[in-house]
Amino acid sequence: MERQPLMSPYKMGRFQLAHRVVLAPLGRLRSKNYLAQPHAILYYSQRTTNGGFLISEATLISGTGIGYTTTPGIWTMEQVEAWKPIVKAIHEKGGIFFCQLWHPGRVLDDDDYQPNGQAPISSTDKRVEPENGQPDPRDCAFPRRLGVDEIPQVINDYRLAARNSIEAGFDGVEIHGAHGYLIDQFMKDQVNDRTDEYGGSIEKRCRFALEVVAAVAQEVGPDRVGMRLSPFANYMDSADSNPEALGLYMAESLNKYEIAYLHVVEPRMITAEDASETPYSPLPMRLAFKKSFIVAGAYTRIEGNKAINEDRADLVAFGRLFIANPDLPRRFELDAHLNKYVRATFAIPDPVVGYTDYPFLDETKI
Ligand SMILES: Cc1cc2nc3c(=O)[nH]c(=O)nc-3n(C[C@H](O)[C@H](O)[C@H](O)COP(=O)(O)O)c2cc1C
Repeated sequence: MERQPLMSPYKMGRFQLAHRVVLAPLGRLRSKNYLAQPHAILYYSQRTTNGGFLISEATLISGTGIGYTTTPGIWTMEQVEAWKPIVKAIHEKGGIFFCQLWHPGRVLDDDDYQPNGQAPISSTDKRVEPENGQPDPRDCAFPRRLGVDEIPQVINDYRLAARNSIEAGFDGVEIHGAHGYLIDQFMKDQVNDRTDEYGGSIEKRCRFALEVVAAVAQEVGPDRVGMRLSPFANYMDSADSNPEALGLYMAESLNKYEIAYLHVVEPRMITAEDASETPYSPLPMRLAFKKSFIVAGAYTRIEGNKAINEDRADLVAFGRLFIANPDLPRRFELDAHLNKYVRATFAIPDPVVGYTDYPFLDETKI
């Protein structure tokens, strides 16, 4: 059988990957009190292949982003210790594992009290309007606009979280700059209404993102850093009037930091979950960015093979298909049937149901 493009090896900087099928970052809300749980060992190791690349669920970087108690964090040593056995299990199976570093910014509930009883931080003091935040049902708080003098501290939180990730054993970190969270709140002109050096022109709106990248790359080495962006999305009320220019500016600017990869959520993913048609393409970003390029968003085996074959991406991340098919790369290799995902169990606390109980392929039956 001829080898499919998705199943061909790829060298992502220092990492030799055996195939191009990446586990997308997927928050499954099965942590407790910001601690990754032992049941995540089985979940991630089920999805690990020798030479496969995995990105962790969004992981909180600091106590100024608290509210999602069922997501893991990586700002305390207890949280680092909780991640260690999970990372170890992936390494034992030959996987390469990056931690996705996340700050939700203003996407927090009214009653998620931040340190000293303060409001959540953001680029703005405008809140996510409930009708625009779909599909997330959160009733978001009015945030507190970060002062220019406070921004270095937040950047330092990303730096420390990156250092902690390496301490936990992760091979690298992915900076979450997508889906309407803190970094996106700075980049998008429909949210960022600042008039200082962090708002206004595209250069100024991207300044925060690039300062985070610079700090994290300096801390752990650029070859251990990736960045995820969704310039075309309007998730959590975070849209831009010129997403193509924004995406291209970021792709070009990121070259300077020589990070390992840029991970772009497809334009059709206007929300984080459902695909729809748009006139945009991530191709100009692919052409502008000099290192590895990952795409994600409603890909199938056929579409993924096409993207690699046409050199529109180096790697393809799969989310929902990987939730339902722990052995997704093998199923792709064999062009085997796929389990269907159950949306109702994507984000529930159960440590097994919808998490580690999707069946592997029975190869005796194909
Ligand atoms: C249950 C669920 C949780 C998700 N959590 C995250 C996350 O933590 N970080 C992130 O960047 N994207 C997250 N996403 C978006 C996925 O990474 C991916 O971009 C999206 O599911 C589209 O890809 P797919 O069509 O292959 O599922 C999540 C999506 C789903 C369905």
